[in-house]
Amino acid sequence: MSFKNPQLAPLEVNPATDEPFLRIEGFDDIIITPPRWDDAPRFMPYLNDPRVYQWMQGPPVPYLLSDARKWLGHIRSLSDNVLADLEAARDTPELITVGDCPVSMIRKVNEDGSELQIGAIDIVRCCRWGEVVKSPEDPDIYVVDLTRKVENAKINYERDVGDPEIIWEFGDYLAPAFHGRGIMTAAVKTIMKKWALPRMNTRIVRAVTFSGNIGSKKVFLKNGFRHIITLPDHTIVRGETKTLDVYQWELAQSEEGSAAL
Ligand SMILES: CC(C)(COP(=O)(O)OP(=O)(O)OC[C@H]1O[C@@H](n2cnc3c(N)ncnc32)[C@H](O)[C@@H]1OP(=O)(O)O)[C@@H](O)C(=O)NCCC(=O)NCCS
Repeated sequence: MSFKNPQLAPLEVNPATDEPFLRIEGFDDIIITPPRWDDAPRFMPYLNDPRVYQWMQGPPVPYLLSDARKWLGHIRSLSDNVLADLEAARDTPELITVGDCPVSMIRKVNEDGSELQIGAIDIVRCCRWGEVVKSPEDPDIYVVDLTRKVENAKINYERDVGDPEIIWEFGDYLAPAFHGRGIMTAAVKTIMKKWALPRMNTRIVRAVTFSGNIGSKKVFLKNGFRHIITLPDHTIVRGETKTLDVYQWELAQSEEGSAAL
């Protein structure tokens, strides 16, 4: 076991494994950790469950072990890169700002200490929805401008780490057995408050749901997001046309001073 790197704050570190983690606020037995290589067979069935995949756009159905491994490779590299940056800055007195969140796998800690992966929460740069822009007439209203779609996505992707103009996007799911217990509402709050705001300088976050996904809608509204636009009949998913609802959270100017919680 090595001496804890102060740059990991406010992550805790598992003394047995040295793995950093965040405890979800209000749940003593639910934590969020980096992805692990052996997670793929665990989460593959979740993404083949219609109670989960019916609300998701990205993952293929059926979701194969190879899909799970590919996704794991991607999110592991994001997590590993952040953890490497934090390690390299171990002796820097101030906490550095990083470009991603190193923890994303939601796990239930059992009484015997074993852990069960029960879901995931990702906050990544928003590279879709570049066409959803503030109205030139009223900045409180959002409109669709397809001419800006590609360019805005590119600009967002290329912004420097820590740029407060970066638009972030949440993606999440939970194993059906754990739905409706308040876990994801608390997970979003924890990631925002503990890592995204203070360590990524996140100021703007979006969440995009299929219309009718009441659970997801409530998770984000309860975390201070507001509905900014509906995109009717926007995307065909598994042969069905989906209307999308876009929610956005923005740090109010008045909250700026207390952002580093
Ligand atoms: C959406 C999802 C992540 C919500 O997680 P969760 O931990 O079950 O949500 P919470 O328990 O924090 O619930 C928040 C609110 O939504 C309600 N809710 C949750 N699931 C619901 C459902 N299927 N139908 C209606 N309401 C639901 C809860 O009762 C709660 O409402 P309340 O605060 O008024 O009591 C989870 O249901 C899920 O994994 N769904 C499938 C995948 C998915 O939709 N991912 C998001 C894609 S945008």
